[in-house]
Amino acid sequence: MRMTLAAALLAVLAAEAAAQTGAPAPALRYAVLGDTIAASLTGQPGDAARGAALMGERSRSLCALCHAGPFAAPHFAGDIGPSLDGVGARLSAAQIRLRVVDMRALNPNSPMPSFHQVPDAPRVAAAWRDRPVLTAAEVEDIVAYLSSLGG
Ligand code: HEC
Repeated sequence: MRMTLAAALLAVLAAEAAAQTGAPAPALRYAVLGDTIAASLTGQPGDAARGAALMGERSRSLCALCHAGPFAAPHFAGDIGPSLDGVGARLSAAQIRLRVVDMRALNPNSPMPSFHQVPDAPRVAAAWRDRPVLTAAEVEDIVAYLSSLGG
């Protein structure tokens, strides 16, 4: 009962803070099953074309810093992570979703950032505090795109 009240209070405070800064309050709700998140984070399928465009934006999605794969400028692609070419044949959409949302749930030492987590880090710049790097819709767009890479 106490916890429920505290949680409700926190939700109200978060909503108020969001209203003041104009930022959307992060709502990170999903269920991890094994190495998957089965359900779409938005309840809708993502848009593969938007996912491809977002992954091509190095400074926003950061994927190409570490991954080779289907990027427009392959000579700039990193090699810290595995190539994402054909990843849709190796992993299901549900497996890809958990890896993008929170790779560190699978490998706590992973150099791959958890893209849909709210950092618990007070010195993160104000613009990034209390929000994930990628929104739920952006994660779904990337999942749709990577799932289509079966070749
Ligand atoms: C800082 C480096 C880094 C960045 C940035 C990064 N990754 Fe990764 N990624 C990795 C590493 C390393 C692995 C291998 C797993 C591990 O070691 O934890 C990995 C694994 C993956 C896998 C599983 C691939 C497989 O074949 O098992 C997927 C899918 C993936 N990353 C997608 C992405 C996407 C999408 C982005 C951008 C939104 C991204 N990664 C950004 C480093 C990174």
